[in-house]
Amino acid sequence: MWYNRPMKTLVEKIDVDNIGKQQIAAAARLIQQGGLVAFPTETVYGLGADALNPLASKRIYEAKGRPSDNPLIVHIADFADLEKIAKEIPKKGWILGEQFWPGPLTMIFQKKECVPLETTGGLDTVAVRMPNHPIALALIKASTGFIAAPSANASGRPSPTLAEHVYLDLEGRIPMILDGGPVGIGIESTIVDFSEAAPVILRPGYITKEMIQEVIGEVSMDPGLEHSNSAVPPKAPGMKYRHYAPRADLILVEGQQENVISAINHFLEEARMQGKKAGVIGTDETCGLYKEGIIKSIGTRKETAVIAKHLYALLREFDDLDVDIIYSESFSREGIGQAIMNRMIKAAGHRVLKV
Ligand code: TXA
Ligand code: MG
Repeated sequence: MWYNRPMKTLVEKIDVDNIGKQQIAAAARLIQQGGLVAFPTETVYGLGADALNPLASKRIYEAKGRPSDNPLIVHIADFADLEKIAKEIPKKGWILGEQFWPGPLTMIFQKKECVPLETTGGLDTVAVRMPNHPIALALIKASTGFIAAPSANASGRPSPTLAEHVYLDLEGRIPMILDGGPVGIGIESTIVDFSEAAPVILRPGYITKEMIQEVIGEVSMDPGLEHSNSAVPPKAPGMKYRHYAPRADLILVEGQQENVISAINHFLEEARMQGKKAGVIGTDETCGLYKEGIIKSIGTRKETAVIAKHLYALLREFDDLDVDIIYSESFSREGIGQAIMNRMIKAAGHRVLKV
């Protein structure tokens, strides 16, 4: 994908249950020197750099090919460090942090002077998260305490859920990948914005609106999330991009299960007659009911968490298969289902067929 891959990328396998001190020390040194290290978190792999060093942040944008107005999340390992980079933290922000950190929650506050605009994409707010992953926490603690990290994919690719995905996208562009095996959740953190009068969810994730409301009361969803074509742009700059656009056209089919299956079978037949190579994203329960095409299961409908975990890897598999069109079943928007559907609808460029 890249013309220029001049750097040797070291892949360090690291055991979550027995974290190698030397490997963490070597990675931490790279971060302290302004370099980049990809590392696992519980959501997806991140591409880390010293968040308080503007040059280091710039390197992240270069390595990913990311638009520079798209701000980075600053990862911390100690709750007390929040106040060092954020100000005007409302009580509800503290309460939510107490409840869900370390964990798949990112909160946005007014930033303090020490956070460079290079890290926040020019904004005067900063996104902060304490990840729940022993390797991530060890690296943050051993380096500078503040690691800016977007998902470690090349811009426009699905977020990486395995170190191999990072290698495929960024080999030659970063010096080190810490390979801690597959991530646990597979979808990026929930983002809650506390920089305005009332808290707003800017990106759905594993921690749902209901879970948040149970702790701090009413929260709203960013209206820009629902209709990307409407006049309301999403507030998180990253959510305005199609983000990941599969190489094939992706079409989501939504409705009663039998209707979805028969509609997809009909589309598959049509695709064949048009000479198109078609794929299907089905489930363990339904894959046997498709008559043709490249059929892949995303997991069982009984466990939404498994679907979330497989989503990005499956989209990568289809990208590699050179299909022209992918038909996908839809999923319930309950719980993490909301985050799954949010990412799938974006990947489909809002092509959702109701049957
Ligand atoms: O789970 C995660 O959050 C992963 C792991 C590595 O921690 N990180 C991640 O980062 O998903 P990234 O850069 O791929 O997504 C960050 C999102 C983007 O949509 C960005 O626009 C938004 O957070 N964001 C960051 N800072 C913001 C700010 N100050 N105001 C509004 N949106 C912000
Ligand atoms: Mg990302």
